[in-house]
Amino acid sequence: MPSPHAKCIGILTSGGDCPGLNAAIRGVAKPAISDFHIEVIGIEKGFRGLVENHARVLHLQDVSGILSLGGTILGTSREKPHKMPLPNGESIDLTSRAVETYNRLGLDCLVCLGGNGTHNIAHSLTKHGLNIIGLPKTIDNDLAETDITFGFDSAASYAAQAIDRLYSTAEAHLRVMVIELMGHNAGWLALHAGVAGGADIILLPEIPYDIDSVCQHLTERRRRGKWFSIVAVAEGAKSKESQAGTSDLEKDQKKKKHKKKDKGEGKGKSEFIGPVSTRVAQEISERLGIETRVTVLGHLQRGGIPTPFDRVLATRFGTYAAEMVAEGKYNQMVCMTGSQVSSVPLDKVAGRTKLVPLDHPLIRSARRVGTNFGD
Ligand code: F6P
Repeated sequence: MPSPHAKCIGILTSGGDCPGLNAAIRGVAKPAISDFHIEVIGIEKGFRGLVENHARVLHLQDVSGILSLGGTILGTSREKPHKMPLPNGESIDLTSRAVETYNRLGLDCLVCLGGNGTHNIAHSLTKHGLNIIGLPKTIDNDLAETDITFGFDSAASYAAQAIDRLYSTAEAHLRVMVIELMGHNAGWLALHAGVAGGADIILLPEIPYDIDSVCQHLTERRRRGKWFSIVAVAEGAKSKESQAGTSDLEKDQKKKKHKKKDKGEGKGKSEFIGPVSTRVAQEISERLGIETRVTVLGHLQRGGIPTPFDRVLATRFGTYAAEMVAEGKYNQMVCMTGSQVSSVPLDKVAGRTKLVPLDHPLIRSARRVGTNFGD
């Protein structure tokens, strides 16, 4: 085998954590150390660690026994080298410090495990001379140029189980249960968890919902003797009216806000805008008089151990990245197309978000089994 291109690499995890990060770190580091004799340096706390030079050598024992561990042994942060926060609330561009750390550590490549934000930063760092390999992780599954990201399956499985649990209590009380799923501006998680959990209504950011259609669907279910329902709402879901800013509830909220302002109340406080699930539940119960409850699943979707699927995916992505390092194939993100792992140039990924296409086969299947999308 020809001698590997790289002698020393850094690895960091950035953005929100997700199950599978440690499996991917292990997937990169084990072959890099054992097969290619490359030194692996762990950068702690994401890009903050690169700016502030928080780094430690990773030995084989550091990456052993972490396959099924949740979180990340390296820690993470959402900080960007070009916009590091200052105590006075302002920010400063410290990209040059990140570049300095990379050079001081003698890195031939930096492997960045992250989502959209991470890949934007990674791409911009390549313009400063850094060699980068990206690994797609996020529970949102919203990275362009890859069919799947690790972390997504674990989050979707957990969310589907949560819906199963809501099902039995919904049935016992004959209630409407509204469950809010993460996913930022993409509906992948709500769609998959909703279909897997048999949600009756799924509201996605990609399909602005009409509350009349939601209520009509619930009424029809009741007419058919279905006295309880599950509504899965993506955190980024929007009503058709709210896109134009004209829903009754919002008009009401705006009026209240202005009244408070006139009275000088709430000065200095930031306005609380409730989760979309609360709005949906409130409108259902006001319009139909049905008992309705809300569950916001939140960070429970991100914590805990990865599913076997994510362990396998993260291991495949990680080991593929180690091979790329050995070949000197840089400035790419590892990706999955069908069942094939390959890589794609970072500039094809940066600045893009993969939303659920309206003609996605899973939306079609869901409609076929009677799921309503609020449209
Ligand atoms: O991008 C992953 C994600 O979990 C999103 O689904 C969610 O909107 C966001 O991160 C939450 O971020 P934080 O952990 O910073 O609250």
